[in-house]
Amino acid sequence: MDWGMKNRLSRIIKPDTGKTVMLAVDHGYFLGPTSGLEEPTGIISELIPWADSLMLTRGVLRASVKAEQDIPIVLRVSGGTSIVGNSLANEGITVAIDDALRLNVSALALSIFVGSEHEKETLLNLSKLVDEGQKFGIPVLAVTAVGREMARDARYLGLCCRIAAELGAHLVKTYYCDNFEEVVKACPVPVVIAGGKKIEEKAALELAYNAVRDGAVGVDMGRNIFQSDCPVGMIKAVKQIVHQGLSAKEALAIYNDVKKDKLKS
Ligand code: R5P
Repeated sequence: MDWGMKNRLSRIIKPDTGKTVMLAVDHGYFLGPTSGLEEPTGIISELIPWADSLMLTRGVLRASVKAEQDIPIVLRVSGGTSIVGNSLANEGITVAIDDALRLNVSALALSIFVGSEHEKETLLNLSKLVDEGQKFGIPVLAVTAVGREMARDARYLGLCCRIAAELGAHLVKTYYCDNFEEVVKACPVPVVIAGGKKIEEKAALELAYNAVRDGAVGVDMGRNIFQSDCPVGMIKAVKQIVHQGLSAKEALAIYNDVKKDKLKS
């Protein structure tokens, strides 16, 4: 791996722990003003101090993050579909590599839709993006998007992660599932998990703990942080699990403490 690629990756996966807490706030690219992200600027700036990187689109990056802010950017570069359109899987590449370079991003992120009618296009998009990234030393995060009809099990998610890695992705994001360690074992590049739909804080912290225990290098979590009643408490708790190995119970106590302080003030 060349120097630039290695340097960018080490801004995301922290060399001292080998782990990462990515904050995903890219949901608007197909969901529009998602709950919790209606006005992204405030919530993003509140959470940045605890995030290892931000995953978002160039539009929200320009509008809501100061260029002087020292936070690695994982730029969402796939899209072209919406929640009200005909096929979410029909994504294309939405950002030219020279703009990604101008934005000084640390990685590029693109979704693949294995098993969908647009499987081939999205996989070829990934290959093309990896080629573009290789030219300039920019790593690619492949997001294994899952259609409603697909089972989120180790067999299917393992297939998606392995294909992403085979096509050259440097990092893969997927969902936690039973036998997750098999997914990680069969994927030759680091794996992070998405949080998925908002669930109880305790359950979300258990999810993060289980994923790291089973081999994930961390999380790329969104809704379970920014839709929480105490987003700062949640990201602090997740960070302690990922980087310090705290149990979900210990991390929940951190979340509760921050929430209590917030209510007092
Ligand atoms: C998909 O909409 C995006 O890639 C999200 O960044 C991803 O799903 C992670 O966010 P969440 O934890 O809310 O699932």
